[in-house]
Order: sequence, then structure tokens, then C-alpha cells
Amino acid sequence: EKGGYASFMLKEIADQPKAVADTLLGRVDGTGLLHLDEVRIAPEVLREVDKVVVVACGTAYHAGMIAKYAIEHWTRLPCETELASEFRYRDPILDQRTLVVAISQSGETMDTLMAVRHAREQGAKVLAICNTNGSTIPRESDAVLYTHAGPEVAVASTKAFLTQLVACYLVALYLGQVRGTKWGDEIRTVVRQLSEMSGAVDRVLGTMEPVRELARSLSSHNTVLFVGRHVGYPVALEGALKLKELAYMHAEGFAAGELKHGPIALIDEGLPVVVIVPSPRGRSVLHDKIVSNIQEIRARGARTVVIAEEGDEEVVPYADHLIRIPATPTLLQPLVATVPLQVFACELATARGNEVDQPRNLAKSVTVE
Ligand code: M6R
Repeated sequence: EKGGYASFMLKEIADQPKAVADTLLGRVDGTGLLHLDEVRIAPEVLREVDKVVVVACGTAYHAGMIAKYAIEHWTRLPCETELASEFRYRDPILDQRTLVVAISQSGETMDTLMAVRHAREQGAKVLAICNTNGSTIPRESDAVLYTHAGPEVAVASTKAFLTQLVACYLVALYLGQVRGTKWGDEIRTVVRQLSEMSGAVDRVLGTMEPVRELARSLSSHNTVLFVGRHVGYPVALEGALKLKELAYMHAEGFAAGELKHGPIALIDEGLPVVVIVPSPRGRSVLHDKIVSNIQEIRARGARTVVIAEEGDEEVVPYADHLIRIPATPTLLQPLVATVPLQVFACELATARGNEVDQPRNLAKSVTVE
């Protein structure tokens, strides 16, 4: 039930701190390392893997794009992420040493299921990341890592996405642990950082009133653009998808570096552009780049909505609206950066009189190809 919320979507957004914590539950052993019994693919097999391919659709695909950054960073295995609906039609190169990770909340998405079947026919091992016990995709995969988001009712995926991210980080770290590419202490550090993310998501949820206000003030606009870099790029795509499906607005996400290759021509006076700013610590190159992107966007008259870490003062002069998120390690930032975008889309859709739990033309699980 809605538990006093006006919609399932609002309830599911609010459920996220618990969903994130639950997805870690029982998966860390007493020494702070990962213990993923469910991943019933033998360590010897995982050690032989020479490539990872992630397949998924929609929001789950955005989680998969972020998984690529984590997997390549923590395991040094090449990883590609592909839309499940495109995957088998290009005759992908797969063999026994390929690990395919299929991400699906429902476990019933036909495109993803067909990709799983195709991968297994080619001899690849398939690990599903799924939120629905006993659904078709996990049943047809070699192994499954369940997300513990609880039932997600609203068509727009929110808490499932955050738990998919957690599961992807776990898979990436686990591969690093089994293959010895990531040493114990580093794994322990990231696992500890992951366990702090539930609290960070909770803090974000406590500061959303200005985001709601901003969303209402933009309800008569026709277009909103989202830009990010690195893991902020899939977050931008996710923000745009939420706005399309809920508010029926033209919304697009771009990699900030691509703006100058065309999309910057879209920007004119007053156009809202949401920018997801990477952490200023650690990856300072990325941060510098995005600061200059924000300047370019603003110089062309856009109204900038800047999502930046607490303590990041450099962006302040270029932000027409500033949304603060807690400081996190670079790779984990999507867990907090996505939340304001969910709230933004939900509020904007409501302000436009749309039904947020059941957007037009959409079904919760897409069981046709
Ligand atoms: O159940 P799945 O995770 O396989 O569903 C995939 C997409 O259909 C789903 O994420 C869709 O994009 C959502 N409505 C987005 O909010």
C-alpha cells in the first residue's frame, strides 16, 4: 500500500535508504569482504572470464552503463553495456569466457530475456541482477544476485534503480575479489563506503523541498536538458528518461563533452539545463571540465540547475539553482545524484496534472519484444 503517500512513486522514492541498505544485507562477511553465495558461478570460471557484457533496458540499462565504469575500474576487465533490444541482432562475439550480466527489475522484460537466451546459446555465463524472486530471467540464467528493493509498483523505476546500482558495485567488487585484481583492504574500504550510502540517500531526501519548488516553477516549459560526465552521464540519461515518461516533456541527456559537437545549438534563453557535477576531489580533471561546460551553457542564456557536492564552491557563481548532494567517492555518486532527479520529475509531472504511477502508454513490465 501507499503508506500515506500520494503515490506509489513517492513512497518508493522514500523507501530508497532502506532498499539500499537491504541490498547489502548478508553480503559482507565478518572480515569486511564480500560473501556472495548466490553467485553460483564457480570462482575458477570467474577467474577465466576475459570480458563482461551488460545487457538491460530503460532504467536498468542506465544502471548497466554505470556498472561498466565500476567493473573496468575495479577489475580491469573490458566491459561493454548494450541495450538488450539491440544485442542479439548484431551477432555479438561471445564465448565461454564471456560473463553476461542481465539487469532487470521485473525479470520478465522480453528484450532482456531474449538477450539472456542468446548469450547462453553462445556458451556465455549469465548472471542476472533482478528484483523479482523466481521470475523468468533469473530462472533462465546461470546465477542471480537479487536486489532487495521490495515490490516496485510505480511504472517509473526508482528504488529498483538504486538497488541495481548497489548490486552492480557488488558484482564488480566481487569479480575483483575473486580474480585478485582488487586487494582486501581496498575492497573493505569500498564496502564500507557503500554501507554509508543509505544514510547519504536519506540526507538527500531530507533536502528536497527546493527541488520540488523548482520543478513546479518549470511546469510550463517544453524542454529540459540534462548533462553529466563519467558516471554523471548515465545519471543525466536517467533524469531525462524520468521526465519523459512522467511529465511527457521533451528531455534529453548528454555527455557534457558532446555538447560542442551539436547539442549546444539547442540552448537558448531560459532553457533549463540540469548539470550533474562530479566530485571536486580525486578526479579534478573531470571537475574542471564540467565547470567550463557550465560556463559555456550559461553564456548561451540557459538557466542552470547545478547538482553538486556539499563544499563544492567553484560551481556557485554559475548556478542559477544549486542542489546539494553529500560528498561521495566518484563511482558511488549516482546513488545520491539520481534522487533529486526522481523527485524533480515526479513533482513536475504532478504539477502538469499527470498520473505519476501509471504514465500514459507505458506498462510496468514490457513482455513483448
Ligand atoms: O523490469 P526491467 O528492469 O527489465 O524493466 C526495464 C525497463 O522497461 C524499465 O526500467 C523502464 O525503463 C522504466 N519504466 C523506467 O522508469
